[in-house]
Amino acid sequence: METAATAVLGTVTVRAPAKVNLQLAVGARRADGYHPLASVFLAVDRHDLVTAAPGEGLTLSVAGEGAGVPLDRDNLAARAATALAARHGLRPDVHLHIDKRIPVAGGMAGGSADAAAALLACATLWDTRSTSHELHRLAARLGSDVPFALLGGAALGLGRGDRLTPLPAAGPFHWVLATADGPLPTPAVYAAHDRLRPRHPRTLGADPAVLAALRTGDPAALGAALGNDLQPAALHLRPALAATLRTGTAAGALGATVSGSGPTCAFLAADAPAAARIAAALTTSGTCHRAWTATGPVPGASVVRTSFAAK
Ligand code: C5P
Repeated sequence: METAATAVLGTVTVRAPAKVNLQLAVGARRADGYHPLASVFLAVDRHDLVTAAPGEGLTLSVAGEGAGVPLDRDNLAARAATALAARHGLRPDVHLHIDKRIPVAGGMAGGSADAAAALLACATLWDTRSTSHELHRLAARLGSDVPFALLGGAALGLGRGDRLTPLPAAGPFHWVLATADGPLPTPAVYAAHDRLRPRHPRTLGADPAVLAALRTGDPAALGAALGNDLQPAALHLRPALAATLRTGTAAGALGATVSGSGPTCAFLAADAPAAARIAAALTTSGTCHRAWTATGPVPGASVVRTSFAAK
């Protein structure tokens, strides 16, 4: 078996974006435990950075907002490197350094961004010549949101959320993202959703109002069309989020939604000054941990730095 470290030397840094869900329609739980989805994703300009460097075995370090991230082989970025190495008959001799800026377990697919970034960083470092199709297939096995972190932009996700169709999107759309104290684990939110016995949509598809507003870049129409079937479950587990949503709406947001499984709340603003005002109101209200502005759509995982040495 060839060692990965002798194939190519150097370091590769990849950044991958957070996402917000503009629409999240959830069907009845399947036999495998997953739920069929119709999810409209938008990538926003809050990124995690993953740097891959040659190493002895697979090691990890995390900086930034990394509290609670596992540092062993359960880490999604580590699993991504292992899966790619196995696919190419390589040993995963790599050190992955994750600079986390996306909140952990916040409903913004931060772990998925790390996995997507690790896939692309290792593929570049090891010169695997992977096609985007190969990376997408590996990504889908790692988690439902990982393929979108590779793709970026705006997309409709069907199946578990991993069967993607890119969507035309104007923009930029101006967002305020309000984090909460403490994570909300995705499986717990889906389980609460099942317990609440929701009425499931008969057919799962994209909401035409969301698609039209995205295409034309109309924030008022998009704000009115935001929808998330997991929101009642997130509010059930974290009732305090209702005050966060009310605060952002009172401060002028055109739409307010829990992002994915939460607990981060996403607010759509008319423009950049409105977003700054909403973020300031949320920050001083005491109804969230932190609030910051973001815009989207932005591209998916991309290489931002390489340093190649001679073999
Ligand atoms: O795919 P991923 O590992 O991100 O999913 C995390 C958890 O979220 C799953 O274990 C499952 O409990 C829940 N989930 C689901 N249906 C989906 C996606 C995720 O029930 N379509």
